[in-house]
Amino acid sequence: MAEQSLSVFKTTSYQEKPFDHELSFGRTFTDHMFLMDYSEESGWHDARITPYQPLQIDPAAMVFHYAQSVFEGLKAYRSPEGDPLLFRPKQNLARLNQSNDRLCIPQVDEDFLLEALKQLIHIEQDWIPHTEGMSLYIRPTIISTQSFLGVAPSTNYKLIIILSPVGAYYKEGINPVKIAVENEYVRAVRGGTGEAKTGGNYAASLKAQETAGKDGYAQVLWLDGVEKRYIEEVGSMNVFFKIGNEVVTPRLNGSILNGITRDSAMQLLRHWGYDVVERDITIDELYDHYQQGDVKEAFGSGTAAAISPIGQLDWGENKMVFNNGETGYLARNLYDTLMGIQYGQQYDPFNWVVNV
Ligand code: COI
Repeated sequence: MAEQSLSVFKTTSYQEKPFDHELSFGRTFTDHMFLMDYSEESGWHDARITPYQPLQIDPAAMVFHYAQSVFEGLKAYRSPEGDPLLFRPKQNLARLNQSNDRLCIPQVDEDFLLEALKQLIHIEQDWIPHTEGMSLYIRPTIISTQSFLGVAPSTNYKLIIILSPVGAYYKEGINPVKIAVENEYVRAVRGGTGEAKTGGNYAASLKAQETAGKDGYAQVLWLDGVEKRYIEEVGSMNVFFKIGNEVVTPRLNGSILNGITRDSAMQLLRHWGYDVVERDITIDELYDHYQQGDVKEAFGSGTAAAISPIGQLDWGENKMVFNNGETGYLARNLYDTLMGIQYGQQYDPFNWVVNV
């Protein structure tokens, strides 16, 4: 890939920053953003940090019609000394390229993008919240921008990174969420785009989520798209169940997102001596174990959601309440340990944290 350079154009009008307690998820955006363009002639070029501003895009841009786009989600945290820290950013950039591959989007130079991201975070570091549990969410997105209505990979793209200071993703915070097993709709099928981080997967999830939301559920748990039996993921989180002495999480089968928090949770659990098993697990099997009293706790993992205990999982009339609806031992310990590492307060045995 050709050598790239980064230009920086600073804003002249800085916004007033919100207080940490006013933050929810994804509603506030910082003063600057990163942009980079792709064309067949020049490859990825014109990398720049500019004031945060609306984009001017042709209504015929392919992304509006055929959804050829990918995104990522990672976070910057503030260390006790006040310095910005990133958590496993290389994994996110590698996954971005895996999603690019699936969506026929040209590969990006991961090393260059990491340096550009660090520079953006450095400029925006005052936006990183000071309160534990809060962070600066980083949202890289690539959209197809060629003005063309034929169905084909675009010849032009725009990569955008925006930043958003955030609090908890779920209004419940670290308190257990209530989830419904989705029986009607499916999120993804094997061979489809379920493993890629692409907007279409999330669009496909809205209908079920809307219905479940009206019934008081935080999210739905997706089953596989063919037999509607195998547990997949929640959409904003991967899922784990402590069954007997094992911690079980659905294996990556092509339609489940390869979560970086999922991987971190597995590494920590194994480091602590737990038997973590990645395998197919049907909802019937989970319910059988539940009826036998073997499901000790359930939780989800995700960048936005962090570690989120699942207090109740409703499968039609069958209701499963885990750990009396309270935060379980593993969820609490994973949450505390991940937070400790991410905020630079605790020994990082895996060298996950990257200084900006
Ligand atoms: C994340 O956890 O970063 C995600 O991308 C989930 C989300 C759609 C909020």
